[in-house]
Amino acid sequence: MTNIQKVGVVGAGQMGAGIAEVCARAGLDVLVRETDEGRVDAARERVSSSLGRALRKGKLTHEVHDRAIAHLRYTTDLEDLSGCDLVIEAVVEDADAKTDVLAALDEITGDETILASNTSSIPIINLGMATGRADRVIGLHFFNPVPVMSLVEVVTSLKTSPQTAEAVTDFVATALGKQVITSQDRAGFVVNALLVPYLLSAVRMLESGFATASDIDAGMRLGCAHPMGPLELADLIGLDTTAAIAESMYEEFKEPSYAPPALLLRMVKARQLGRKSGSGFFAYPQGELR
Ligand SMILES: NC(=O)c1ccc[n+]([C@@H]2O[C@H](COP(=O)([O-])OP(=O)(O)OC[C@H]3O[C@@H](n4cnc5c(N)ncnc54)[C@H](O)[C@@H]3O)[C@@H](O)[C@H]2O)c1
Repeated sequence: MTNIQKVGVVGAGQMGAGIAEVCARAGLDVLVRETDEGRVDAARERVSSSLGRALRKGKLTHEVHDRAIAHLRYTTDLEDLSGCDLVIEAVVEDADAKTDVLAALDEITGDETILASNTSSIPIINLGMATGRADRVIGLHFFNPVPVMSLVEVVTSLKTSPQTAEAVTDFVATALGKQVITSQDRAGFVVNALLVPYLLSAVRMLESGFATASDIDAGMRLGCAHPMGPLELADLIGLDTTAAIAESMYEEFKEPSYAPPALLLRMVKARQLGRKSGSGFFAYPQGELR
């Protein structure tokens, strides 16, 4: 039985908000850290509206909804996470940003605290070695949207201890009720190593004028029964995140098919990031980029 009761979540964008929500739904105490008050308000709003939607759709009882809200707290001060049993970082997919956060958490938290990263592609060993506790640093890769998607990849580095892996796997499977698969510490882990080259192929197909974005996506939805096409999926992930994952995978494997296409990089530069910014390969009038 896991003794993880108090969870810190650093970064509450699309993923961190979802992770905080599922932990609070499970009755755990959750402390969410964002960088400034505006982002804290946006995070609170994101989590509350998602819980409200689940309640309206009958996917949550009033009791679980109210308990989840009562178990969530928000802060801009990283030091407030000092008493957590587990801290999950879900900041932007940038190695420097993540190592800064993990090094600071290493200073602040107690010796027993496990530090997890929701990175999609950055080697866990690089993150672990930024701390003095690489044996208690692990990859915990949730999927988007977190309250809906049942999978979590657990990623151990060469330094992660079996006790850490066991505690975290038990926590994810038992407390959160998610399905765990385990992966070695290779850029992209299992799912993105298979998925991202496919998404990049769709971007290259569009870039070369081979077919329109709508037709590429309709092809995979209607021809292969995928719930969404590759360009809509890249928009959902976020084009900045998709490009960052591709860059990590290319850096590790030097496979040309992993290199981010120029169109993707130009769209990131133009801050056309997909659903979260309101436009990507398709338009999203409800975009929420702040
Ligand atoms: N988007 C996806 O589909 C997906 C899926 C699985 C994993 N991930 C991974 O999850 C992580 C976050 O992705 P996202 O899609 O939520 O990104 P996002 O852009 O929606 O959110 C990132 C958040 O991190 C915050 N942040 C940045 N630095 C911070 C700091 N020092 N302290 C606290 N907050 C900070 C930002 O304010 C922002 O709200 C990335 O590592 C990404 O690779 C993303």
